[in-house]
Amino acid sequence: MADIEPISFERLPAHIAIIMDGNGRWAEKRHLPRMAGHRAGTENLRNIIKACVEFGVKYLTVYAFSTENWKRPQDEIDGLMRILADVLEKEIEELHQQGVCLRHIGRLEKLDPKIQEKINSAIKLTKNNDQLFMNIAWNYGGRDEIIYAVHQIIEQQIEPKQINEETFSDFLYTHQSPDPDLVIRTSGEMRTSNFLLWQSAYSEWYFTPVLWPDFGREELMEAIFDFGNRERRFGGRKNKDSDKSYAG
Ligand code: FPP
Repeated sequence: MADIEPISFERLPAHIAIIMDGNGRWAEKRHLPRMAGHRAGTENLRNIIKACVEFGVKYLTVYAFSTENWKRPQDEIDGLMRILADVLEKEIEELHQQGVCLRHIGRLEKLDPKIQEKINSAIKLTKNNDQLFMNIAWNYGGRDEIIYAVHQIIEQQIEPKQINEETFSDFLYTHQSPDPDLVIRTSGEMRTSNFLLWQSAYSEWYFTPVLWPDFGREELMEAIFDFGNRERRFGGRKNKDSDKSYAG
């Protein structure tokens, strides 16, 4: 078989974060139970991880279970926890082979101790990988993360004058990752839903009506091409050759 030409992107985001939305509607459209949608979403996540490794994206953060998701019916919560346990048990070896370094963001201590153990051993197994750094946001909330950071700062008796935007970031769950360049939300919803509130201050957002289980490699490419055409100014103004003072 001929080698596949590597895709050349004009500008590749170093860090992509995704709100994987629309599993329930995907299942509903097919008259299937909601869990079938979550399983299809998990299958799709596997494709997206592969595509990120292929394209050379260095950081991927996925919003899989929010601090608000505890409000869902218990059978759905249990089903999602089972999916996580299965992935950590059955798929970790393949992720490890792909060079994925797995990390968790969120309140770990509120999860079942058995799940905590699986998460910790997956983190340990993959800690030296550097092909793709993948943050799984599980029991994660952006506001909760900011409160967590404040508690850490107080507990560690950090001097107020030592706190600035950079040092504050060091206390967030994501302290090992750069801020996301691109945040994708599938399924047509246009909200941030408490995801990476601090970190996405200057991210480019990409909203698509495609439901998460259908958001495959091609759709990811489209999002990256769209990102490549955006002009990121970080609060500054357009950098024109005729007026260097515009630089933001
Ligand atoms: C949102 O769709 C999706 C979730 C709350 C769960 C996402 C989880 C996965 C894809 C599993 C990933 C697994 C691992 C191990 C990271 P929704 O149920 O809110 O869909 P709806 O808005 O159409 O009802």
